Amino acid sequence: MNVLGIETSCDETAAAIVTDAREIRADVVLSQLDDHTPYGGVVPEIAARAHLEHLDGLVRRALDDSGLTLADIDAVAATGGPGLIGGVIVGVMTAKAIAAARGLPFVAVNHLEGHALTARLTDDVAFPYLLLLVSGGHCQLLSVEGVGRYRRLGTTIDDAVGEAFDKTAKLLGLGYPGGPLVEKAAATATDPGRFELPRPMVGRPGCDFSFSGLKTAVRRHVEELGRPLTDIDRADLAAAFQTAVADVMADRVGRALALFRDRHPQGDTLVVAGGVAANRTLRARLAGLADARGLRFVAPPLRLCTDNAAMIAWAGIERLRLGQTDPLDFAPRPRWPL
Ligand code: KG4
Ligand code: ZN
Repeated sequence: MNVLGIETSCDETAAAIVTDAREIRADVVLSQLDDHTPYGGVVPEIAARAHLEHLDGLVRRALDDSGLTLADIDAVAATGGPGLIGGVIVGVMTAKAIAAARGLPFVAVNHLEGHALTARLTDDVAFPYLLLLVSGGHCQLLSVEGVGRYRRLGTTIDDAVGEAFDKTAKLLGLGYPGGPLVEKAAATATDPGRFELPRPMVGRPGCDFSFSGLKTAVRRHVEELGRPLTDIDRADLAAAFQTAVADVMADRVGRALALFRDRHPQGDTLVVAGGVAANRTLRARLAGLADARGLRFVAPPLRLCTDNAAMIAWAGIERLRLGQTDPLDFAPRPRWPL
């Protein structure tokens, strides 16, 4: 089975073709970074127009890369939400048009489910597993018990962790998008212990997150310096921030693991997904935590952590296998909790 996947929920326009034998036959992603950089963040209207302009060409390129034609495609899956609604509409309409023209099944995929199931595309991961889903819009701990069966153990009470990276990058004058730039700056730190930052929620009951205090503390350090930041200041602050995030994550994931194992004594895998899962410091910390608890740690390759269409095609395949498809009058959903 060859499934065409389409992703347009934020600032990446993407198309991919994935088989039910877990082969990624094509995976093209067009970043709109240059369109949004002058504004310091994603502008929804610009994003929607860029998706509209590029999506057809990307689908054609995915077909070319895979050596297939539309006649070889067995189903079409598109992100149906959550996300910036203009972009989601573009992807869903395109997928519906192809499905209608070729008489193919259509699947509207929850973007978060795409991230959540990626580990099953790249690795042999069985249900149940504990998932840390960390992206620009989300920060959740989920017990993944099956396709469409997610139990939320914790979530952020304010900012998503990717958002905290992006805002911190802005405070440090590093640019956008923040995550990779903070990681890069942190790697050049000379005194990572120079700035003290809080560890919000650490030691507290439950598995929720909070990041706004961390961001405020970074701002306070910047103000207290009372002069323009040097590259060394930026690097040291970035490193302090990244370590604080990793400490918070390790504490929260540790608690969630205990809850998860109580419920599923046979569950033996910790998975991390979403754009922030590309962060090497965070990956290393989580790998260490899993190791200490005798668990397997699975993190998809960096390219499949950030937004892509292979994960959408794969989530479509998982749903199709269960006989689940969506009608062509499916309405795109700006909000769509898992
Ligand atoms: O999953 P994603 O591509 O899009 C959403 O669904 O939100 O995640 C994007 C987020 C951004 O906030 C970006 O700054 C963050 O992931 N990110 C990172 C890294 N790469 C991307 N955060 C920390 N370290 C990274 N290397
Ligand atoms: Zn995402």
